[in-house]
Amino acid sequence: MPRDEIQAGPSPNRQYHPVLTGQVALVTGASSGIGRAVALGLAAAGADVAVNYVSGPDAAEAVAGEIRGLGRRAITVCADVSQEAQVQAMFRDAIAALGTVDILVNNAGLQRDAPIADMPLADWNTVIGVNLTGQFLCAREAVREFLRRGLRPEISVAAGKIICMSSVHEVIPWAGHVNYAASKGGIAMLMKTLAQELAPKRIRVNSIAPGAIRTPINMSAWETPEALGRLLDLIPYKRIGEPDDIAHMAVWLASDAADYVNGATLFVDGGMTLYSAFAGNG
Ligand SMILES: NC(=O)c1ccc[n+]([C@@H]2O[C@H](COP(=O)([O-])OP(=O)(O)OC[C@H]3O[C@@H](n4cnc5c(N)ncnc54)[C@H](O)[C@@H]3O)[C@@H](O)[C@H]2O)c1
Repeated sequence: MPRDEIQAGPSPNRQYHPVLTGQVALVTGASSGIGRAVALGLAAAGADVAVNYVSGPDAAEAVAGEIRGLGRRAITVCADVSQEAQVQAMFRDAIAALGTVDILVNNAGLQRDAPIADMPLADWNTVIGVNLTGQFLCAREAVREFLRRGLRPEISVAAGKIICMSSVHEVIPWAGHVNYAASKGGIAMLMKTLAQELAPKRIRVNSIAPGAIRTPINMSAWETPEALGRLLDLIPYKRIGEPDDIAHMAVWLASDAADYVNGATLFVDGGMTLYSAFAGNG
C-alpha cells in the first residue's frame, strides 16, 4: 500500500497475527548476549532475521546458522551502528537479501565506565555515538523502509515495529557511568518522540528496559558468588535475568498481540526499579 493510503485508527477487517510468520527482523548487536537471544526468539516465532554485528563474524554466523536450523532465512550484516554510511549499507543489504524489514530491534550497546573526573571525551562520544546516535540512525533507515513498503495486512496490522533496548538506567542514576546513563535517558525521549510522530503511520515504537541480565557486558557483576550476592541485593525477585527473559518480551512487543502498545518502556528487571531499599519503611 503506498504511504499516503496508510490510515490510522481501527479497521473492522483487521486481522491479527500473533506470531511473526512472514516478517523480517533486523537485530543490531545480535552476535552475543541479549541481541543473540532476541534474534533466536524472533526466529522461533516465525521471523526471518538479519543478524548485525560489528566484529567477530564467526559468532554472528553461528547465530545465523541456528536461525536457519529453525527453518527461517538469516543473513549476517557487518556494520558499526554509529556510522551513517555503514547503517545505510546494512539496510540496503538486508532488504536486498530478505525483501524488507518489518521489525527493528535497536539492541547494540556498550559501556565505557569512569568517574566523570577521569572520563575522556572520547569515551563519552563513543557511548553516546553507539547507544543513542546508533539507535537514531537505525530507526531512521527502518522508518524509511516501513513508509516505502506500507502496510501488508496479511503480514501484520502495523506497518513496522521498532524496539529500543534501553536499561533500568533510563530512570536509575548510575554513578561512574554518566555516559551510559545519559545515553539510556536519551533513548527514553527518542523512543517516545518517534512513537508520537509515527503512530499515525501505524508504526509502533517501544522500549525494553532490562535490569541485570547475565551477558558479557556486565560479567564482573555476576561472575563470582560475592559479586552475584551484591547484585541480588538490588533485585527483589532474587535472581539475575537471562537473555531469554528479554527475548520473550521482544517477541510479544513485535507481534500484533501488542498492537495497542506504543510509546511504552517495558521494564524487565525482576523489580529492580521498585526501590527495594524502601521495603523496610525506608
Ligand atoms: N546485560 C544487562 O544487564 C543489560 C541491562 C540493561 C540494558 N542492556 C542493554 O542491552 C543491550 C545488549 O547488551 P548485552 O547485555 O547483550 O551485552 P553484549 O555486550 O553481549 O551485547 C552488546 C552487543 O552490541 C554490539 N555492539 C557494540 N558496539 C557496536 C556497534 N558500534 N555497532 C554494532 N554493534 C555493536 C556488541 O558487539 C555486542 O554484540 C545493550 O544496549 C545494553 O545497554 C543490558
